[in-house]
Amino acid sequence: MKILLLGSGGREHALAWKIAQSPQLEKLFIAPGNAGTANVGENVAIKANDFDAIKAFVLDKKIDMVVVGPEDPLVNGIYDYFKNDASIAAIPVIGPSKDAAQMEGSKDFAKRFMQRHNIPTAAYQTFTGENLEEGLKFLETLKAPYVLKADGLCAGKGVLILPTLEEAKKELKEMLSGMFGNASSRVVIEEFMSGIECSVFVLTDGKHYKILPEAKDYKRVGEHDTGLNTGGMGSVSPVPFATKEWMKKVEDRIIRPTVEGLAAEGLDYKGFIFFGLINVDGEPKVIEYNCRMGDPETETVMLRLKSDIVELFKGVAAGNLDTKVLEQDPRSAVCVMLVSGGYPQHYDKGYVISGIDQVKESIVFHAGTAFNDKGEVVTAGGRVIAVSSYGKDKAEALALSFKGARLIDFEKKHFRSDIGQDL
Ligand code: AMP
Ligand code: GLY
Repeated sequence: MKILLLGSGGREHALAWKIAQSPQLEKLFIAPGNAGTANVGENVAIKANDFDAIKAFVLDKKIDMVVVGPEDPLVNGIYDYFKNDASIAAIPVIGPSKDAAQMEGSKDFAKRFMQRHNIPTAAYQTFTGENLEEGLKFLETLKAPYVLKADGLCAGKGVLILPTLEEAKKELKEMLSGMFGNASSRVVIEEFMSGIECSVFVLTDGKHYKILPEAKDYKRVGEHDTGLNTGGMGSVSPVPFATKEWMKKVEDRIIRPTVEGLAAEGLDYKGFIFFGLINVDGEPKVIEYNCRMGDPETETVMLRLKSDIVELFKGVAAGNLDTKVLEQDPRSAVCVMLVSGGYPQHYDKGYVISGIDQVKESIVFHAGTAFNDKGEVVTAGGRVIAVSSYGKDKAEALALSFKGARLIDFEKKHFRSDIGQDL
């Protein structure tokens, strides 16, 4: 099979690494990819949102399947773009339709979906500039801290958690007057939930689903969960509190009602569903849905997926995922993210990265890397490199990832040395 994978981050390098292991693969292209994906496939200089260029490439290279990494092309409707064009309609796109991608594209849409299907989540109300006064009154009925969410996509920046009523009121006004542009023209205000988070993933063909290994992500930039939120500073899998009993609750109350709800509402979904969950006194609740895999969760989940991912994708495309087997690797996997100093705020790019080839006991996934004109691998983003490792347990895997994290170097390198230690 010839496969085109869209995206350019650590998630895509991990997906590419896994796809490249499939005996069914004839050739893997990654658009646009990064300096790491070039080692497992061929990078193509096409942006993941340039649908016309993707179509031309797919036809030219006789691509058999398109796998979508990031949310943007999905929310922009790449699935529908293929389905509605006779020349490419037969080529499966692994990812939901534009309407179904609203599960991530609109927080309000996701909340209303959960309400309709009785899926446990925080109580909420949605406000616009027109009913700002009601929003301010609603805040007065809640207890601190206050959770405000821009309705639309904000590259992970659209959620504010405010300690006082005054700040919450001020931020609500600012969000509704365009703090995040159009994305915050509607704001979801929700009840604060207290607990530990866990990311659960399924692959679905729209009818059947398979549960992938779960993972925990570390979002804050600083040790012991301090500082600003980032895209993710590391991940671990498995998650100790995600026991068989807990996962049964997740499946019965969240996964099955979601997949059945999507089907019942005619929302075409053939791809990954990412359930951002929180464990509130032993009860799983949904914080958010994403219509793709998580990053940096993929950098551990792919290590723990034993089965051929291409075979699973074929099941997704054909609608017979129930006939496929998803086997999990019993080992632990962890990932430590090396980031550019200053991230998630201002940081510089273009620093030469050394030491990658000295890492022998971990798997190095590139996130924000590129080649400079001398052909050297340089930093090209906030999150630069994910060092992923296996271990018989979490401690063994962590020791290897921290060792690798120290061997790799670039100007202003930063990583969290407490990944996985809270569990
Ligand atoms: P989201 O983009 O919806 O995943 O929110 C970003 C982060 O904000 C989550 O990963 C949580 O850490 C936090 N968060 C969001 N909603 C809530 C909530 N209702 N209660 C507590 N924390 C929340
Ligand atoms: N790691 C969280 C996300 O991918 O959204």
